[in-house]
Amino acid sequence: MDDLNELKARALQQLDSIWDNAKLDEWRIEYIGRKGAVNALFEQVRALPKEARGAFGKNANELKTVLENAFHAREGAIKQRELSEALEAEPLDVTLPGRRPQRGRIHPANQTLREMYKIFGEMGFQVYRTRQVETDVMNFQMLNIPPYHPARDNWNTFYIAETDNRVLLRTHTSPGQIRVMRAMHPNPIRAVISGMCYRYEQMSARYEIQFNQVEGLAVGRNITFGDLKGTLTEFARRMFGERPVRFFADHFPFTEPSAQMDVKCIICEGAGCGLCKFTGWLEILGGGMVHPVVLRNGGYDPDEWSGFAFGMGPERITMLKHGITDVRYFWGNDLRFLEQF
Ligand code: PHE
Repeated sequence: MDDLNELKARALQQLDSIWDNAKLDEWRIEYIGRKGAVNALFEQVRALPKEARGAFGKNANELKTVLENAFHAREGAIKQRELSEALEAEPLDVTLPGRRPQRGRIHPANQTLREMYKIFGEMGFQVYRTRQVETDVMNFQMLNIPPYHPARDNWNTFYIAETDNRVLLRTHTSPGQIRVMRAMHPNPIRAVISGMCYRYEQMSARYEIQFNQVEGLAVGRNITFGDLKGTLTEFARRMFGERPVRFFADHFPFTEPSAQMDVKCIICEGAGCGLCKFTGWLEILGGGMVHPVVLRNGGYDPDEWSGFAFGMGPERITMLKHGITDVRYFWGNDLRFLEQF
């Protein structure tokens, strides 16, 4: 019994001066571990005379409980002390206001795209997306632009590999006309095809190497140039408000006849200013009647079907609406620009 009391006093006294986890673990192993002093006591029980065993065993068990409780209490105390030391070393003022999280917003080009989808959607056009990596056949040849055709100079092209001039990044959304026609045949079509296009340009305030386009395509039994003018005039009214538009002749190999549409300058209302380069008009888009060769390439017999198509640049239209003077802002990822929209 003296051994027990002596062991208890020694263990508790030692524990009292322990303030780190490594020492605490050593203590645990020494006293209450599997091969520790308390377990050694139980070994001794067998050596005692029978009458003494009961009382000794009971006391040894009590000692074990006392030491285990003391161990857990110490463990908690160490954790508590570590915490208050950390708090003291790194003071935390819980009364400070929090940091306001940065709120994202929709990119200005996407805002314009959505506005366009809404307008054309209300007119019954479905939105399509077709591939950005195209073949020369789809991007040019199916659109009535054979190899070496001089009109190719209008579309400076990124080829996927220097040795491969058959795979390229689309220079416009017009190859989507062929894909949508082939998917929709023999049904009439009212579709908008949108997405990123790429051109091998010297970048400047006016030219980017990547930009979105929105392509319109309508194919039906008797679609006329009047339908094209009506659709685009109504689009301009909803996009830019009540203001005059004008059409005049243009040329694309895949439309015949072809046209360009302008709206009265939204800054000077026609008086002449820097934005419209003193013409009073802003060029918005190109379009025309789908060329018979293109209709046929899409699977539609040009003797029975006709259609119109147009293409426009949402970034350009965003620039005109907001007086943005440099197209490079769109993909420059400068928050000072993006946060204004
Ligand atoms: N694809 C033409 C371009 O990028 C625009 C266009 C589309 C013109 C459809 C006519 C019809 O310049």
